[in-house]
Amino acid sequence: MSSYLRKKTPGDTSWFVHDRFGMFIHWGLYSMPARHEWVRYHEQITNEEYEKYFLRFDPDLYDPHEWARAAKNAGMKYAVLTTKHHEGFCMFDSQYTDYKCTNTPAGRDLVKEYVEAFRAEGLKVGFYYSLIDWHHPEFPIDMKSPVRNWPREKVEAINQKRDMRKYAEYMRNQVTELLTNYGKIDILWFDYSYSGDVDEKSWLHGKGKDDWEAEKLIATARALQPDIIIDNRTEIDQDLWTPEQVQPTDWVRHPVTGEYVTWEACQTFSGSWGYHRDEMTWKSPEMLIQMLIQTVSCGGNMLLNVGPTSRGYFDERATSALSAMGDWMHYNSRSIYGCTMAEPDILKTCPNGCRYTQTEDGKRLYVHLFSYPFHSLQIPGLAGKVAYAQFLHDGSEIRFYESDPTPGTKAFEDGTKVLNLMLPPVKPRVIVPVIELFLKD
Ligand code: GLC
Repeated sequence: MSSYLRKKTPGDTSWFVHDRFGMFIHWGLYSMPARHEWVRYHEQITNEEYEKYFLRFDPDLYDPHEWARAAKNAGMKYAVLTTKHHEGFCMFDSQYTDYKCTNTPAGRDLVKEYVEAFRAEGLKVGFYYSLIDWHHPEFPIDMKSPVRNWPREKVEAINQKRDMRKYAEYMRNQVTELLTNYGKIDILWFDYSYSGDVDEKSWLHGKGKDDWEAEKLIATARALQPDIIIDNRTEIDQDLWTPEQVQPTDWVRHPVTGEYVTWEACQTFSGSWGYHRDEMTWKSPEMLIQMLIQTVSCGGNMLLNVGPTSRGYFDERATSALSAMGDWMHYNSRSIYGCTMAEPDILKTCPNGCRYTQTEDGKRLYVHLFSYPFHSLQIPGLAGKVAYAQFLHDGSEIRFYESDPTPGTKAFEDGTKVLNLMLPPVKPRVIVPVIELFLKD
């Protein structure tokens, strides 16, 4: 059994830490300008100027079954879709706003179709719901707003008429709709708090848990779906810690208590979450696969984002990255699903250029070769522990022997025998080859 005890939380994370790999989907009106989902903020676009997208949003090629198959073929086990992003536009048929997809040329509930399609493919279903709302008439303008640079008097006059409590109630109402009308929802991803933000305009305040009335909001969600996994971006600890576009190199710990937490790194292909036509800094398949392995080797999950086009399909860059991941996962997913950070005494034997994952029951150890070591891989500390070794992708035996350590090495000083894995000198045609070690009982 893995010796890492995770902090206990209210939701059911048991399936989540097994499944390890999910798809984030950022889709909204911002897929039309195709210049980042924060385009309204960056370009200081007013509601009126942004209306042109609402009038013309028409995802005629939206086929969520195709999305679900792409996710499944990539080895992903769950998905999280933006039901509303910071722009405030709702991708579902809410009775609490007119700013929703059913009032655009799309003319239908896009969330509903997503839920049905992903569920039909056997994937778990999650909702992202933005706490920030740049369109809602009761959401006070702050430093994250597209119109933050309007004259102070104008902003103050507007804010005076806005009532954050009404907005908090609106969120509870919408979360109620989302968690009532679509069956079992596995994850709820609120985004995000910035109460600590200070701006040169000190009269603009950031927002956090008190503004969202986060306790009530979470209670509303839990009453409807007790097992649901909720992230911690409301500023109240729940089930999930969510490092964003960073690659942890150790198990993520609770900042105060130091406990191991359930964590999920969310990552992009190219730095933008929403579809970005001209963004060219796409990560290579090798990098993406290494990110997934690195994440699981530290006991985490990876939520990898796709930003569909405004017509509703995944562009070629996304589908080819997903299919490269799928090719690797097809042969190697055993080192990902049900795996976690290796036991401490095993982990410390991990050679340079490798990453370990280990099954929850501790019986199998996976050595991922980030840099290929020519014809032999030597691992001091594992001698005497291995019963059988093979490449994971083709199940071909890797012979091994145990030897005395070389004088002058650390193993020699420690008096440890060395495990020598005899590899073919040429790297197999696998982006990251994996050695599967069956450990002795
Ligand atoms: C940030 C961004 C947002 C994105 C999210 C994903 O909070 O504001 O655009 O949706 O991260 O983690």
